[in-house]
Amino acid sequence: MSQSERFVLATRYRLVSELGQGANGTVWRGHDELLDRPVAIKELRLPHELSEDDRVVFYRRTLREARAPAQLRTHSIVEVYDVVIEQGRPWIVMEMIEAPNLEQLIVRSGPLPPDRVAHIGRALLDALGTAHKAGIVHRDLKPSNVLLDGDRVVLTDFGLAFSSGSASLTKTGHFMGSPAYVAPEVAAGEKATPRSDLWSLGATLYAALEGRPPFERENVMATLSALATESTPAPQNAGALAPIITGLLEKNPTRRLSHARAADRLERVLAGPRSGRRSPTPRYRMMVVIGLIGATVASCGIGATALIVGMMREKPGSSASSSSASPADPPVRGNPPPGVTTSTLAVRARTSGCRIFVAMPGDVITVLTDATLTIGEVRKYDQTLLNAVVYDASACDIWVNGRQQPLGRSGERKNYTLNRTGGG
Ligand SMILES: Nc1ncnc2c1ncn2[C@@H]1O[C@H](COP(=O)(O)OP(=O)(O)OP(=O)(O)O)[C@@H](O)[C@H]1O
Ligand SMILES: [Mg+2]
Repeated sequence: MSQSERFVLATRYRLVSELGQGANGTVWRGHDELLDRPVAIKELRLPHELSEDDRVVFYRRTLREARAPAQLRTHSIVEVYDVVIEQGRPWIVMEMIEAPNLEQLIVRSGPLPPDRVAHIGRALLDALGTAHKAGIVHRDLKPSNVLLDGDRVVLTDFGLAFSSGSASLTKTGHFMGSPAYVAPEVAAGEKATPRSDLWSLGATLYAALEGRPPFERENVMATLSALATESTPAPQNAGALAPIITGLLEKNPTRRLSHARAADRLERVLAGPRSGRRSPTPRYRMMVVIGLIGATVASCGIGATALIVGMMREKPGSSASSSSASPADPPVRGNPPPGVTTSTLAVRARTSGCRIFVAMPGDVITVLTDATLTIGEVRKYDQTLLNAVVYDASACDIWVNGRQQPLGRSGERKNYTLNRTGGG
């Protein structure tokens, strides 16, 4: 008997072997000794740096994670059986699906043909329809959370789901979601909605058809910047699904294809002549995902701080750059606030709407928003590099080496380097 098999939760659920690890925990193959049936058990890890308050929020979120799908009864949503708090962390006991997830399938077999993707799309629309009617937003729909068991398509991991009536837990300041699949308005600070799930569905189906999501870049910051500034690429292998994918990947949520329309159009595609066959495209690369715990900012390296300063103001078509100044920069103004010296990096919210993603050492991304950084408040960082994407220069100020920095155009990516010997 392996070490894990000796571990039994709630005197009932035996851990058998590890199925896989994600950003916020490990999923185990397990066995329910009481009912003598296989189960899948998701062990949620608590991020080390969480404060006591954040831990309470995390527990509440976990209960919600379990409760949300437990309310939903449909073939295309994984069934949740139980939640156990043991060894100081929550474990979610659920239906065991002996099947690969969509991400694994794409890595293994390459992009999928449109008729298969249409079938997956219909099942996911059904799952979302059921959840949305119950007031539940999934918030983390992406290929690794879609299990493919023969013809059955099952949506799992309502890890970031919450009832639309309940308070947003993003106030804790942790970026939640996977940047390559998160809707642009959510990345920019708006609350997740059924419409933002539809964007994630579009990005997921796009990845299934093309082998990679529409906004995949070399690191998290570049992905978020591309999401804010670049137009959605047209899918190349989508056949008759192309207008549906494009409609779901409409950046303006009010113009985005609605659930009813998407379902209707998908039905028509499924009823019509077989859509095109697949064509070879480059193999899918593993996604960088960030969730409650994890984020990797490859370009910054250990000890670097990466910031995205954002406001919900989209400028379609403008492109990202990494220059340190541009003609569109607003005039630099103001003396450093007290305590901001020549050897600090500091950020201040000048007005409401200053939204900042902070990638810290230890692969954690936290978010400063109106809820976590009040107007006039200064946040100081002890790192030497700031990789910033600024959505609205009028909402935030950044000081490096004691000097206020030009913030650039909306969505522009910039580097700010702290020179410990002074100067800018
Ligand atoms: N109910 C289930 N039955 C069988 N396998 C599952 C089940 N739920 C999840 N898995 C598998 O467990 C593995 C880990 O899932 P997990 O959700 O922890 O990671 P992820 O989806 O890759 O990333 P993230 O943490 O960002 O959601 C995945 O390979 C997934 O397919
Ligand atoms: Mg998952």
